[in-house]
Amino acid sequence: MTDSSIPIANPPAPKRTGGLKPAEAEAKHPLAPYKTLSDEELRSRIQAVRDSLGEELLILGHHYQQDEVIEHTDLRGDSYQLSEMASKSEKCRTIVFCGVHFMAETADILANRPDRVAARDGRHVDVLLPDMAAGCSMADMAGIAQVEAAWEDMSEVIDTEQVIPVTYINSAASLKAFCGRHGGIVCTSSNAKAVLEWAFERGQRVFFFPDQHLGRNTALTMDITEDQMPVWDPYALEMGGNTDQQIQDSRVILWKGHCSVHQMFRAEHVDGFRKNHPGIQILVHPECPREVNDIADISGSTGKIINTVKSAPAGTKWAIGTELHLVNRLKAEHPEQEIHFLSPVVCMCATMYRIDLPHLCWTLENLRDGELVNQIRVNEETTKWSLIALERMLAVK
Ligand code: 13P
Ligand code: SF4
Repeated sequence: MTDSSIPIANPPAPKRTGGLKPAEAEAKHPLAPYKTLSDEELRSRIQAVRDSLGEELLILGHHYQQDEVIEHTDLRGDSYQLSEMASKSEKCRTIVFCGVHFMAETADILANRPDRVAARDGRHVDVLLPDMAAGCSMADMAGIAQVEAAWEDMSEVIDTEQVIPVTYINSAASLKAFCGRHGGIVCTSSNAKAVLEWAFERGQRVFFFPDQHLGRNTALTMDITEDQMPVWDPYALEMGGNTDQQIQDSRVILWKGHCSVHQMFRAEHVDGFRKNHPGIQILVHPECPREVNDIADISGSTGKIINTVKSAPAGTKWAIGTELHLVNRLKAEHPEQEIHFLSPVVCMCATMYRIDLPHLCWTLENLRDGELVNQIRVNEETTKWSLIALERMLAVK
């Protein structure tokens, strides 16, 4: 599916083997027998579990998943849609989340809201992530201790009572809880502007983490200028690498984080397509850097990208700047349009790609046999505060 002759933007980190040689560690892993099965066999075994568990099982998949996995999902969506699906899930007992860790945490929090649990006579919905190594490099760029230290530091020069913390949903539950505790909110790429408006109705400034690009690209559409958006570097010695004055003059303080996939798109890729394909439209995700976002024709969440292509007339030409698996799927589903991938390198999400048929089959067969593998369970205190920030987000229209 990917052309191995072109470089990959974010190759996965080497695996830890706990002192064993890599081949020995691989052979001992409970997944090993599943890796020897053919795709055909994996498919029919996955289907058999789905048939036997029926409505008790809900498989959710993010649009960046590979086609083989998407084929087995009950519902697919972008981050916002998936959190709504989890919050509305009624009949299921287990959600198997084909996405990344922060999404599964969000599903656990939303599917197990107190009113939902009461309506199910106290029954908790279990959320499973087929591969625990499916994390998000952007989410990992902001740790709770770093965010708390930044909050403390900035309180020396500004009144943090007047700062509304906003976390992109692509973050650990502990950061969502931080926002819940401090009058803040969660956003996704599809509601970031409405969320920033909500925040400015309640405070003078916003502290936005972990994605500087989504924060900047969104705030620029609200007449906030680049010089009013200092970037907070958690590794800088003082004030996130800013002067006191920069923090005092700020309207949005951006965290120094990014998506390793979307940051690979460049302005020269846009220029190249415009030169070589007259009439082409550039469609990008707002996690792309400003230099790309500013010159694109359309910028929007994964859901918006899909709907834009779906509703375009036959013959429309697109160069799309988002995750490769989604762009390839759009190409296959819309042969009547001309669709190109915006970058010459393979910008795929290596962690989303960790969810594959062997992991899915292993998770499902264990579930059928009464064994929960890779369960994601957010602790009670974190859940309580994260839920406040997530419910604020779901209430913003
Ligand atoms: P959306 O699903 O909100 O478009 O976000 C893209 C993404 O990077 C998910 O990790
Ligand atoms: Fe994280 Fe980027 Fe992958 Fe989304 S696409 S999960 S933001 S690394």
